Amino acid sequence: MTDRYAVIGNPIEQSKSPLIHTAFAQVTGQDIVYSKVLSPLGDFALTVDSFRAAGGRGMNVTAPFKLDAFAYATDLAPSAQLAGAVNAMKFEGDRVYAENFDGVGWVRDVVHNLSSPLKGRRILILGAGGATRGALLPLVDQEPALVVIVNRTVAKAQALSVLAQQHCRFPVQAMDYSDLQDLAFDVVLNATSASFASELPPLTTAAFAPGCLAYEMAYGKGLTPFLKLAQQAGVTHLADGVGMLAEQAAEAFAWWRGVRPDTAAVIAQLTIPLV
Ligand code: ATR
Repeated sequence: MTDRYAVIGNPIEQSKSPLIHTAFAQVTGQDIVYSKVLSPLGDFALTVDSFRAAGGRGMNVTAPFKLDAFAYATDLAPSAQLAGAVNAMKFEGDRVYAENFDGVGWVRDVVHNLSSPLKGRRILILGAGGATRGALLPLVDQEPALVVIVNRTVAKAQALSVLAQQHCRFPVQAMDYSDLQDLAFDVVLNATSASFASELPPLTTAAFAPGCLAYEMAYGKGLTPFLKLAQQAGVTHLADGVGMLAEQAAEAFAWWRGVRPDTAAVIAQLTIPLV
């Protein structure tokens, strides 16, 4: 019997998840259909209820419903608890199992696809919102030498650094952009939402150490102001979030279906050159 999955969001038209999961199902021989579900704002629970009643087995969750899914779940995995948000659900009887694969997807993209180990490296994260919160714990598991979270609203960075510091022995520091001065990092992750407004966080070229990886978490936007700044600093290793998108999807697929698809073909298909 064909099993049903979907991604739920509002808006949802832009989502690449059906394309990705359909490709995964083809290469792994899994009998699934994966669709898009547009939920009215405020009706998340009702929309999911009806998807489950129609036999749905699992869902990915995208904006603005990651917190609604957190509240809806009956069983939150540690990844979802630590991120404070849910991006994948699995339905079994009256149980709703919930995970957050965004952070692990980012780490896998960096370490595996981009061949950039995080262990022993100096990491700078821009932003202290949901995207940073999701990435933080999978990142500290990699045992970098230092993690700095920089944010316009420094109190939010401080709260996240305290949370992360409970899980590791190396320093996790919160800073204002002006505190960075000439500190340089091996990996700089833009986890702000600035790129959606074509804005540049108040960063200087000094932040990029020689050989640095500059990673833009947004995807499909070409050379964002952040990536352009990295280029001006002489950085040649630039990436956007397309690999993270594919890797978090592969994690969800493996969790649902018990088989982990290779992501290379999907990443190649979705990659928009950074020019
Ligand atoms: P998300 O869930 O995508 O992380 P969010 O929780 O709204 O979204 O967080 C957005 C992050 O981007 C915040 O850290 C925000 O900084 P503030 O907390 O100081 O508002 C950051 N951000 C958004 N626009 C920015 C800009 N132009 N420059 C720097 N940081 C920006």
